[in-house]
Amino acid sequence: MAKGRWSGVIAAVVLVAGAMAPVAAQGDKVKGEKVYADLKCSMCHTLGTGKKMGPDLAKVGSTRDKAWLAKYLPNPKGENPKNKMPAAKAKGADLDNLIAYLLSLK
Ligand code: HEC
Repeated sequence: MAKGRWSGVIAAVVLVAGAMAPVAAQGDKVKGEKVYADLKCSMCHTLGTGKKMGPDLAKVGSTRDKAWLAKYLPNPKGENPKNKMPAAKAKGADLDNLIAYLLSLK
């Protein structure tokens, strides 16, 4: 199926181009704060009052970068299957916004 193969190639090119674009989708940290609240991240994380079930995220913006968070949040068990953190149920713009919010915590 030549047609199918080409659309796959085109999709891959578009994805790579998107990943390399200097201004990749910038999240909105104000909206991201709402995503953080809606997804109840605070059940396990505090922002400056110490470790709960998960680590305090008050400074996560200085210790982690966007690429790390984009990989980690949808699949926390990727590196360590024993990780108790559930996958963040945010996709697309919500995930970008959530990451922008976390990166603003320094
Ligand atoms: C059920 C509890 C739980 C919930 C809910 C939860 N987390 Fe976590 N999270 C954890 C635990 C536990 C870890 C530490 C995992 C480890 O390193 O072993 C963690 C780690 C993290 C880390 C990595 C911190 C670092 O620098 O190592 C980030 C970022 C994070 N969580 C963000 C979130 C966000 C955003 C949400 C909401 C979408 C969320 N978490 C919801 C338990 C939770």
